[in-house]
Amino acid sequence: MKPCLLTLCLVAGASVFGAETNQPPYLDPGQPVETRVEDLLSRLTLAEKMSIIHADSKFTTAAIPRLGIPRRWMSDGPHGVREDVGPDTWQPAGHTDDFSTAMPAGICLAATWNPDLGYSEGEAIGQEARKRGKDIMLGPGVNILRTPLCGRNFEYLGEDPFLSSRMVAGYIRGAQSQDISSCVKHFALNNQEFERDSINVEVDERTLHEIYLPAFKAAVQEAGVWSVMGAYNQFHGQHCCENDYLLNKILKDEWGYKGLVMSDWAGVHYTREAALNGLDLEMGTERNYNDFYLAQPYLDGLQSGAFPMAGLDEKVRRNLRVMIATHVLDANRKPGSLNTAAHQTVARRVAEEGIVLLKNDNHTLPLDAKTLKSIAVIGENATRLHAHGGDSSGIKAFYEIMPLQGIVGQAGKRVNVIYSEGYQKNGGADLADRAIAAAKSADVVIYIGGLNHDRGFDCEGADRTSLKLPYGQDELIQKIVAANPKTIVVLEGTMVEMDAWLGQVPAVLQAWYPGMEGGNALARVLFGDVNPSGKLPATFPKKLSDSPAHALGNYPGTNGTVTYAEGLLVGYRWFDAKNIEPLFPFGFGLSYTTFKYSNLKLVESDGGTNGAIVTAQFDLENTGAVAGAEVAQLYVHPDNPAVQRPEKELKGFKKVFLQPGERQTVSIALAQNAFAFYDPDKKGWVAEKGDYKILVGGSSRDIAVQSNYRLAETVFEKD
Ligand code: BGC
Repeated sequence: MKPCLLTLCLVAGASVFGAETNQPPYLDPGQPVETRVEDLLSRLTLAEKMSIIHADSKFTTAAIPRLGIPRRWMSDGPHGVREDVGPDTWQPAGHTDDFSTAMPAGICLAATWNPDLGYSEGEAIGQEARKRGKDIMLGPGVNILRTPLCGRNFEYLGEDPFLSSRMVAGYIRGAQSQDISSCVKHFALNNQEFERDSINVEVDERTLHEIYLPAFKAAVQEAGVWSVMGAYNQFHGQHCCENDYLLNKILKDEWGYKGLVMSDWAGVHYTREAALNGLDLEMGTERNYNDFYLAQPYLDGLQSGAFPMAGLDEKVRRNLRVMIATHVLDANRKPGSLNTAAHQTVARRVAEEGIVLLKNDNHTLPLDAKTLKSIAVIGENATRLHAHGGDSSGIKAFYEIMPLQGIVGQAGKRVNVIYSEGYQKNGGADLADRAIAAAKSADVVIYIGGLNHDRGFDCEGADRTSLKLPYGQDELIQKIVAANPKTIVVLEGTMVEMDAWLGQVPAVLQAWYPGMEGGNALARVLFGDVNPSGKLPATFPKKLSDSPAHALGNYPGTNGTVTYAEGLLVGYRWFDAKNIEPLFPFGFGLSYTTFKYSNLKLVESDGGTNGAIVTAQFDLENTGAVAGAEVAQLYVHPDNPAVQRPEKELKGFKKVFLQPGERQTVSIALAQNAFAFYDPDKKGWVAEKGDYKILVGGSSRDIAVQSNYRLAETVFEKD
């Protein structure tokens, strides 16, 4: 157990400054943040300032007891509060109080298309972070899914800048409501793990702004994120943790970001760049902390006059601002809570709303436990724990319900559930035979396979090498479905090829990594206690060569550089432009009920308080027999653009819960930026006058209603 450093330091602070009435401005919560920051800055010695801008252990910066500044604790990550390590190693610290709620992976959260749930998840993680004494949580990750092979796609929020912006904003607001700072990462263009420390990304300016930056911008401008982590890779030949253009020009100058920029762990390479290009905090290990670029080498430069002292003050100021804004120095800072039933409910709800029903012929699902005698559960993922895997985003889960457990619990005592592993990493000759025998003997088969967090699949530090299912699962599924046609396939992990068996199986669920409550969530979907409402946050291609980076041969790059030659045509934008049939389109997901869209009307407004210039109103009706939720999606199509534009782009969505037979009028407001493209010459957004189509439906390839819209004037907005 760690002692409560904050309490100790506040006590120390009180003894330094005597009676409360004499407390200095920086300790007075009644003073404006900037007053407190400047007051504290003015009291720091040079050595103390230096100690604030680099690590003193793997996840901390030093305390300054004389001023009541506690040691500052950071922790991964996006899916919960990580197991404690360290202080100078990745080995677990062996604590007994670092079990946490393990939320579903980021891609599952994105598949909920429910920003309110994003808020709830962020809030729960924020509370757990506080209870565990953390100040900055290293997440969420918002790098765009450019290639299906990226080893960290599971952590991120999919392929679309609009969807990821909406989800990230909710999450950060929730987390930061708990007196901690989120740290959105990895800024920017960390879209592959292959050569991640060095790969140089070349992408044109318009694509950078339209595809790869919006989620970061939303984190900064909408959610007010207090920390941003630079990426390992390079952009235009300069590492992102010390990239003048990204950090100084875009993030700080153009977007007005006031928080701190920290490096990814050991992501800094040069003192001069680290000193001058916008980095405020250097993190990492593997070297003496005094040798960090922002430690002695920077100090030498400051003392020799090579670097201005004002630059140091600005870095320190940003660090102090984050501390003060998150109430690190205040007695009434929120205390947090850990492993509560409420947090577990959030984990379960994210999984329930994020699981996507990809296929459901003849109402195979939901299963009816009353009419079933036996179920064969087959597949290694039925009993595999995932929460701890994937590297920095892994969680030492308080508990983790495996799919098999969830199914046994949900099916009830009357149903005989048999389990057969079916496949293993290292083969096992009779595994398949036993699984086939089990399949034959049962009323229904639930196959639970897919990927896992082993290196080379969904794991940090390497990319996948193939889109195919590993361990001979394609052949195994074919044999199982031949033995029992009532085979439901559940895939965990990120997207895979399915052509080998998709035509033969009646039902498929995409379950991602559904977190500690995943087994319960999955079982509730399988047996109909929950009606699936997840929608894909990324296009599933039929084969790897259909997706843009691979079609163009622009992955993983040559001679250390990867050029994003597909430009704007990432994900569905590419499939639309090239008229390629995806396996499952962006935004796709079935339900146990059906929905009808009608009566689309466009209501113009004056750009008032929420900036809306036009609102799409339409009726959405649940035309089936069970309650359910539909994610109504709105895409904008420009009719005659003067510049290249994607065929259509997501610009609004709403998740609507409806009882059977219920009809609601749904409104989705569009501001002028819904029509805009980024103009690199003007350094801003141009909404071009002209004709557009407003397309509304249940997926990017299932547009139910549409209407024409004319934008009367061209409008320009600075970035
Ligand atoms: C990862 C970051 C993570 C950091 C600290 C790095 O390897 O890229 O996402 O926050 O380690 O664990």
